[in-house]
Amino acid sequence: MEPAIKYRLIKTEKHTGARLGELITPHGTFKTPMFMPVGTQAAIKGAISPEELDEMGSQVILANTYHLWLQPGPDLVQEAGGLHKFMNWDKGILTDSGGFQVFSLAKHRKLTEEGVHFRNELNGDRLFLSPEKAIDIQNKLGPDIMMSLDECPPFFESYDYVKHSVERTSRWAERGLRAHANPATQGLFGIVQGAGFEDLRRQSAKDLVSLDFPGYSIGGLSVGESKAEMNRVLDFTTPLLPTNKPRYLMGVGTADSLIDGVMRGVDMFDCVLPTRIARKGTCMTTHGRLVVKNAAYAHDFRPLDPDCDCYTCRNYTRAYLRHLFKADEAFGQRLASYHNLYFLHQLMKRVRQAIMDDNLTELREEVFETYGYNAE
Ligand code: GUN
Ligand code: ZN
Repeated sequence: MEPAIKYRLIKTEKHTGARLGELITPHGTFKTPMFMPVGTQAAIKGAISPEELDEMGSQVILANTYHLWLQPGPDLVQEAGGLHKFMNWDKGILTDSGGFQVFSLAKHRKLTEEGVHFRNELNGDRLFLSPEKAIDIQNKLGPDIMMSLDECPPFFESYDYVKHSVERTSRWAERGLRAHANPATQGLFGIVQGAGFEDLRRQSAKDLVSLDFPGYSIGGLSVGESKAEMNRVLDFTTPLLPTNKPRYLMGVGTADSLIDGVMRGVDMFDCVLPTRIARKGTCMTTHGRLVVKNAAYAHDFRPLDPDCDCYTCRNYTRAYLRHLFKADEAFGQRLASYHNLYFLHQLMKRVRQAIMDDNLTELREEVFETYGYNAE
């Protein structure tokens, strides 16, 4: 059987570990490294339509098992013909397994070897998410790429706790793999955990690689540790993963961390950050973060980012955007969300070209310099 998800390495950059490649999925072949916008509830926040996502260069988008399980439910999505049909997006879809969201969102949760018990925040019902259940839901949702149920321990948890957690995550990954009903049409990724401990990351990677997943996620990062810590963990984690499979760094979406991740051999990234900050009026630009609501932009009739050719920047001014945010008009959130997503897609396009040209280190310097700060 051909696996549903394949990766083709085109080239490795001369001076770094950066990889130019292709992610081959049942909904098309996509260029990596890539940034994936997050549509938690099968819609990108900021009211960005699938047509707009396509136009701005999105390839794979994310949705969440946890949220879609609570509403509208996997059976309804299956009845609709799967997520792609339901939300009218015919390129790639990846779903997270729900574990991370249960831990960050659900109340009264209890973790056992079998899975995690928690309360439905919407109606108080008792729910239970097991590794098999997470796969069953994702089989019904029908994304191209699914995630194993994992536990993401806090970065500064004790060694003993993280060790037990990693071992359980490996057992859960194996149980999920066994429960997977559609390996020919949906690829299941294992998630490497282990916080900041090198030997636990090695153990986690070894366990998962022996199960031969079509791709590997790196979890447990961007959860409050420093950027230097994250880079240190990536430095020893990506070399543990097979070169012929895609690597996905979960929850990372600042310009500087994307470049740092790519240089260490990561192919895929996602983050709610660009759309989350956009809804408050914070825009990612070539010259750093721009809080468009600030008084400084009241009479500024330049585009958000003069170096950007997105729909927002081609048609609207900072003064107009500031007005929309001050007046609480939803159009402002839409325009800022569009720009931020476009900005990250454009950055990844430049990153791919730099890998081609073997000058990613120079691009990193330029980006870090023009942002003038940690490039968020
Ligand atoms: N999203 C961001 N980090 C993680 C993680 O460690 N695990 C999962 N499942 N999702 C994530
Ligand atoms: Zn723009």
